[in-house]
Amino acid sequence: MADEQELAQSQRRHWQDTYAAHPGMYGEKPSEPAVHAASAFSAAGAENVLELGAGHGRDALYFAREGFTVQATDFSPVGLEQLRDAAHSQGIDQRVTTAVHDVREPLPLPDASVDAVFAHMLLCMALSTKDIHALVGEVRRLLRPGGVFLYTVRHTGDAHYGAGTAHGDDIFEHGGFAVHFFPRELVDALADGWILQEVHAFEEGELPRRLWRVTQTLPR
Ligand SMILES: C[S@@+](CC[C@H](N)C(=O)[O-])C[C@H]1O[C@@H](n2cnc3c(N)ncnc32)[C@H](O)[C@@H]1O
Repeated sequence: MADEQELAQSQRRHWQDTYAAHPGMYGEKPSEPAVHAASAFSAAGAENVLELGAGHGRDALYFAREGFTVQATDFSPVGLEQLRDAAHSQGIDQRVTTAVHDVREPLPLPDASVDAVFAHMLLCMALSTKDIHALVGEVRRLLRPGGVFLYTVRHTGDAHYGAGTAHGDDIFEHGGFAVHFFPRELVDALADGWILQEVHAFEEGELPRRLWRVTQTLPR
């Protein structure tokens, strides 16, 4: 438990320092999962999107440009400040709000108030399996019936799985970043009570990171 708290705090500092040293580090273009998500969200009739772990906002800003109302959260105020500046300069600040929030805490939103939730490489951060289950429970609470949850995670087929410092619970720290590599059973367990629409394998970046894009919806 003490190790979990220390790891969480050191990760938050690490992300703050990283965004401060490398503003806009993921670039301005949306990620491939965000482009896919925008179509899936539109097809489901979504108008508002909650993004968890939005960072400096490459995807939140894209959703806003696509016409969604976006609530972007992250535990790094530095990343969110960069997001707000970019929203302002793109003239879309009316459609994007930000909130500093650690996903290990309950989300401060009412039940069934959100149409769609997006989280690219957030559930695979330094979160215990218990934290991840609690978070998905929160997403379930605040999504409306028929709402869509689309998330991506690095998985146990990733080249960095097993490399660096082991923190237990499939969490490994490499180059200062701790990652919870998902086994397939965890994806299936998190879809319990949902409709699991798709688990799509893809790669991102130069390593490359090996990820799954998971789409699950709430029964109506
Ligand atoms: C790999 S980055 C991805 C950022 C963004 N989704 C993107 O793809 O551009 C993970 C993000 O999750 C945030 N994060 C990590 N742990 C978090 C936590 N416990 N609560 C909220 N945000 C967290 C980090 O600050 C970082 O912005």
